[in-house]
Amino acid sequence: MAVRAGAAVAGAAVLAVLSAALALYGPPLDAVLKRAFSHHKAHSVKDMENPLQLVRSVVPPLSTKKHKGQDGRIGVVGGCQEYTGAPYFAAISALKVGADLSHVFCTREAAPVIKSYSPELIVHPVLDSPEAVRDVEQWLPRLHALVVGPGLGRNDALLENVKGILEASKARGIPVVIDADGLWLIAQQPALIQGYRKVVLTPNHVEFGRLSEAVLGAPPDGGDHHGAVLRLSQALGNVTVVRKGEQDVISDGEQVLVCSQEGSGRRCGGQGDLLSGSLGVLAHWALRAGPQKTGGPSPLLVAAFGACALTRQCSQQAFQKHGRATTTSDMVAEVGPAFHRLFEA
Ligand SMILES: *[C@@H]1O[C@H](CO)[C@@H](O)[C@H](O)[C@H]1NC(C)=O
Repeated sequence: MAVRAGAAVAGAAVLAVLSAALALYGPPLDAVLKRAFSHHKAHSVKDMENPLQLVRSVVPPLSTKKHKGQDGRIGVVGGCQEYTGAPYFAAISALKVGADLSHVFCTREAAPVIKSYSPELIVHPVLDSPEAVRDVEQWLPRLHALVVGPGLGRNDALLENVKGILEASKARGIPVVIDADGLWLIAQQPALIQGYRKVVLTPNHVEFGRLSEAVLGAPPDGGDHHGAVLRLSQALGNVTVVRKGEQDVISDGEQVLVCSQEGSGRRCGGQGDLLSGSLGVLAHWALRAGPQKTGGPSPLLVAAFGACALTRQCSQQAFQKHGRATTTSDMVAEVGPAFHRLFEA
């Protein structure tokens, strides 16, 4: 299914470029895989199936035999006085992708607002409490993945609580997606996630620059997006990094995947929350399926590719209907049809 082309390139890290151009799903999709290698050792390029196909292989089939919660209980950590939309978008996207339950852990003031957006979310007004870490920790045994950062803000006391929540999640081996002001915290204290292989960072351009400066001590090489993402991932101990942009560049320190699924020209706020929320679910599914299902690429690389492709497909479909008036709510309404088109058709 995939078109293969291997090309050895001398220098830092690029061995082969594999690109799969698909015309099967309506809009053209390009996926580029690069396998990094160290020094002179040239690994052979493993067969890389079409990444969308790999995402499909980790999606659990719908079944009447399962009980509630089996397909994912996701927790979103974020939501404060100023920001209530972001955690809502992340949590509702997780549900629409297929999680059975979506929790939001936010501040006391934000809770009634987020509840009023949707009766489908479970909202815990605990994040600004002195007992926040303990309160969230009690729920951790029941959660499959956390999404940290949507609408978090930069209040020191909140960030201190989030730090404790991250440490508790790490101790339990819970997959964690970190976005927005969660990444602000990581830029201050990269050690919090250093080497934790179940974390996925989803920086935009500005956040990526800040992380690179904090971790590598220099701004990223503007001309080499792939290398810059690979290097940041490696410097953090091969955690998965998704650099959002015109193309989304994803690396786990070993491979680099590029998602250039057609999206739209709209850049309304909230799209990143759709991505992080859906990634929470996909990360759980991919890790549960394991590398035997995802083949060459790591499960989190596959999950991240899936979330990027889905977000872009939602954007494209919403834009077809609403044009420049497209907002994130319109995109969230497309999650079902977009998911079906990409992963179930
Ligand atoms: C990260 O991956 C690269 C490439 O496979 C490898 O050389 C390096 O040792 C890994 N680092 C860690 C901390 O595992």
